[in-house]
Amino acid sequence: MKLFTLLTSTLLATAVSARSSIFGSSINVAPYDDALKVPGESPLQFCEDPKDNILELKSVDLDPNPPLPGKNLTIKATGTLSQNVTAGAAVHLQIKYGLITIIKQTLDLCDNVEKVDMKCPIEKGDITFEKEVELPKQIPPGKYTVFADAKTKDDEDVITCLTATVEFKVGGNVIVHQGLK
Ligand SMILES: *[C@@H]1O[C@H](CO)[C@@H](O)[C@H](O)[C@H]1NC(C)=O
Ligand SMILES: *[C@@H]1O[C@H](CO)[C@@H](O)[C@H](O)[C@H]1NC(C)=O
Repeated sequence: MKLFTLLTSTLLATAVSARSSIFGSSINVAPYDDALKVPGESPLQFCEDPKDNILELKSVDLDPNPPLPGKNLTIKATGTLSQNVTAGAAVHLQIKYGLITIIKQTLDLCDNVEKVDMKCPIEKGDITFEKEVELPKQIPPGKYTVFADAKTKDDEDVITCLTATVEFKVGGNVIVHQGLK
């Protein structure tokens, strides 16, 4: 649960900063690759062209939007699985703070989906996911990169791969880096 929460919190903290950046002043938004943007109201991007992914992610939406640090946020996702997702599927999670990898871990996907009221095998077809999380009030300044690569047993096929990078400045300025630049 901790790791799952950490993943979602980090992704959502990233979302918070990306959103608030729109309303901020001295903000520097990196060139943005629209082709890789995950549809919906979030700053997530696919790691690469998702056309062969088992999960066709149709939307990821955050509510409220913009999210508020220290407040609860609901994340909703919808998509379609082209195959059953069965035991052995894994999420390779990496979180970097600057150049330093602070988390590098492989999580069992099936163990973790139980925490959001899903169960393996996840049958192919349409799926929806909804989760409420508490966002951290304070985020230490620095650049964070989150990378989550979900694969089937023995890393045979990519289910989905998502990434987001954001930089928190001292004094509240935010620089958003989107994509793999
Ligand atoms: C997918 O899972 C369902 C339910 O567990 C099962 O009935 C079906 O046979 C599975 N399909 C494939 C292709 O394995
Ligand atoms: C915020 O979310 C947490 C975790 O889901 C939940 O326990 C808590 O009741 C929520 N608080 C509010 C005010 O909705």
